[in-house]
Amino acid sequence: MPFLHVPPSWQLPASQATPEATYWNRRRLIKTMVGAGIGSIAVSLGACAREKTIDPGLAKTLGRPLNNVQRNPAFDNLDRDITPQAYASSYNNFYEFGGTKNIWPNAQDLPTDPWQLEVTGLVKNPTTYDRDDLTQQFDLEERVYRFRCVEAWAMVVPWIGFPMKRLLEQVEPTPEAKYVSFTSFYDSEVCPGPAWGFARNLPWPYVEALTIEEMANELAFFAVGIYGRTLPKQHGAPIRMVVPWKYGFKGGKSIVKIEFTAQQPATYWNTISPNEYGFEANVNPEVPHPRWSQQTERLLGEGTNPFDWEKVPTRLYNGYEEYVGSLYA
Ligand code: MTE
Repeated sequence: MPFLHVPPSWQLPASQATPEATYWNRRRLIKTMVGAGIGSIAVSLGACAREKTIDPGLAKTLGRPLNNVQRNPAFDNLDRDITPQAYASSYNNFYEFGGTKNIWPNAQDLPTDPWQLEVTGLVKNPTTYDRDDLTQQFDLEERVYRFRCVEAWAMVVPWIGFPMKRLLEQVEPTPEAKYVSFTSFYDSEVCPGPAWGFARNLPWPYVEALTIEEMANELAFFAVGIYGRTLPKQHGAPIRMVVPWKYGFKGGKSIVKIEFTAQQPATYWNTISPNEYGFEANVNPEVPHPRWSQQTERLLGEGTNPFDWEKVPTRLYNGYEEYVGSLYA
């Protein structure tokens, strides 16, 4: 299918690109520079030390470098530090591969090559994308987003991918399409998670869904990478949803099928426990989970005990009200 693209104005030429995977603690750097009387911050961020080293086992799970991808300055927020990858890529929810946060070793069994993503349902151009189409047919950009899990932990990560609306432009939903569902990979032969206890009877595969308006929002993003490289399997390789104003469970991983529908689709957590996990699931400090408050969140840090981590107030729509508030007015 022909795909015309006009590069956005913020896209720098490759020659000016920041080197891959230099995710430094920028806020601290700037504070240090101000303290040292260095007025201009127009220096390479590659000049300071990495905050936390990644152990060799985890390092083997990282994807291949995605070179020449520019950070979109509109999503380069400095109000929180970027979470070190050593934490973000070893503390995951991916129930297909187990019920703890330490699923990254099991997740390496996820077969991602070849991969096909089918787009079907109420669209003018049903399409199937191969794995390479996902990184080659769309212009990739980097966005630093806050991420908030319904379990009240949070992180800040640099995703690489493309706005969901770019895919909408290609497949062209028909006027009848009101919702869109996203189905994750599932194969009982390679997903040990559902073999344990209660998970055996859960409604696999994992399915999430949005309204068409939510999918068309500027923030809604398909990630194919993180921290300068293609997605590690534990983060949902080769493509996952990122909807940063919603709780993390709305961001389905390892998507194999996208379907446009007229009716609201059944989704995974909402089917399991509708009064705990609403369909909309927007981050909101005033709406407690029935079993805990959502007023505050813990920033993913050292160790596995969230009570050791910095506690900060939760923000409505995870701080993205200016982008999404009008959707729910
Ligand atoms: N997608 C699938 N397929 N399976 C899952 O268990 N967990 C969700 C979401 N997407 C999940 C999923 C939840 S609860 C969260 S918080 C995020 O993935 C975690 O994303 P991360 O591990 O990349 O931080």
